[in-house]
Amino acid sequence: MNPLLILAALLLFFIYIYKTATFRHPNFPPGPPSLPVYGAYWLLLLSNWTYIHKAIENMRRRYKTKILGFYLGPVPTVIACDYESIKEVETRPEFLGRMDTIVARERGLGKLLGIILADGPLWAHQRRYTLRYMRDFGFGTRNAKLESLLEQEIQDVVDVLNGRKQDEGIFKNGLAIAPDLFYHILVNAIWSMYAGDKFSDGDHQYTRYIAQQGIDFIQATSPTGGTIVLTPWIRHIFPEKSGFKKIRETNLRIVDRIKKAVEEHKRTYSDDHIRDFIDIYLREMKENENNPEGSPFTEEQLVFLGWDLLVSSVTTLTATLTMYIVYMIHHPEVQYKIQKELDNVVGRGRLPHLNDRPNLPYMEASLRELMRIASIFSLGIAHRATEDTQLCGYFIPKNSMVMTGLYSYHHDPDVWGDPEVYRPERFLDETGNLLKKDVSLPFGAGKRLCAGETFGRQNMWLLLTGLLQNFTFTMPKGQKLPSKNPVHGFHQTGPVLWFQPVPRNE
Ligand code: HEM
Repeated sequence: MNPLLILAALLLFFIYIYKTATFRHPNFPPGPPSLPVYGAYWLLLLSNWTYIHKAIENMRRRYKTKILGFYLGPVPTVIACDYESIKEVETRPEFLGRMDTIVARERGLGKLLGIILADGPLWAHQRRYTLRYMRDFGFGTRNAKLESLLEQEIQDVVDVLNGRKQDEGIFKNGLAIAPDLFYHILVNAIWSMYAGDKFSDGDHQYTRYIAQQGIDFIQATSPTGGTIVLTPWIRHIFPEKSGFKKIRETNLRIVDRIKKAVEEHKRTYSDDHIRDFIDIYLREMKENENNPEGSPFTEEQLVFLGWDLLVSSVTTLTATLTMYIVYMIHHPEVQYKIQKELDNVVGRGRLPHLNDRPNLPYMEASLRELMRIASIFSLGIAHRATEDTQLCGYFIPKNSMVMTGLYSYHHDPDVWGDPEVYRPERFLDETGNLLKKDVSLPFGAGKRLCAGETFGRQNMWLLLTGLLQNFTFTMPKGQKLPSKNPVHGFHQTGPVLWFQPVPRNE
């Protein structure tokens, strides 16, 4: 080949690399340069292969900025890492969009449905509607029926761990397994409101199976989308390595189960006897079917609302609960203090209930501190800028991916002093009461605030107090302490943990 042609090709190639590396929108936030195809993703992987939020934190420090900007392939990406910028992203209307990705579309069988991955008027309407009507069945409020169901389920788990009942799926040879320990309770809690029913005792295996599909789905995805979102064609070449096969298979199993419940409800529906959220939604569909402007109430939307609620419940809560047990095993002194507080306020004669919650500030602080330090949503859920705009003086182009750097914020020494230390006291005042203002943001904030915050906090509290009242979490003699490293995914999940729940007999 003509050497001049080779030289020209090489020159063009280097110009392309140079242009890619140096391209930035004017006044875009500072951050690493881009390389071909995946942009700055290469450099992030090089900085920390396993945890993208740690790579982002490394870059944030290197560029000495609280708002980091880079390009993932062609997508301008911005990470807000301090309180002010996170709050802006969470509240300003032009940041409330969601990314339209292959994973989001695969999840919704080709559409952007539900609440979590939807945006625009459909999102706003369906979010409002779901929160309003799920509330009637106990979601995000106090509800005697739900609390009694939970009490019964928690007592069952206590009985299994005490050896009074048998369930080898969660307790074997004196060891309990997390997160599996929590699956049945959490699936039933959300399912009882959405589908009005609970899976019976005999269905433990099935509830664990369906919860595991949710965990597998979350672990096959990534907060920024990862390579499959930047180069969707790789799913054809590497269906397994890219995670695509797992995403598709687990999603279909979850969708099938929810569709089955909707079908059963359609068959047995009666206007005179509204049993649960599915029934309310079916009634709404009927009332709106002749709406000349079209109806936001569709069967597919009902299915993916169920998906959002069910999967969020089993993945986020079990992740937090498992990480909590890990930290308790590392911090027996904290466990001891919580147990003393429980003994003083509740005693041992009954399980704790939500009326006790205001009287157990140390317990509350220990959970807040866990959510801060573990930051399972290390980068929140990606937002999208719906127009050209500004963030704290920086230019943010339309369709940028805008993320909340919750891990960076929760680990910022300027805010927390000693962020790597697990210290519940940081949420308490000198008299031992909870600080009036909690500046941690594990559930995000503003208009996109986690829809399950109250439900999540209540359930985790009931489960943990019920267990800590009756057991001390330890590792079996001779075994080393469990790893504090979570499993990476759409959000972090807990490691599989076999631990020893020692009954409190004293
Ligand atoms: C410890 C448990 C949980 C944590 C840490 C958590 C955290 C979050 C975060 C950070 C967001 C994204 C906010 C944003 O877009 O900026 C979110 C969104 C959401 N969460 Fe949670 N969550 C938890 C539990 C739950 C539960 C139990 C449910 C439902 C049963 C739930 C349902 C949702 C929904 C529907 C959204 C989407 C809200 C929207 O886009 O409008 N979450 N959550």
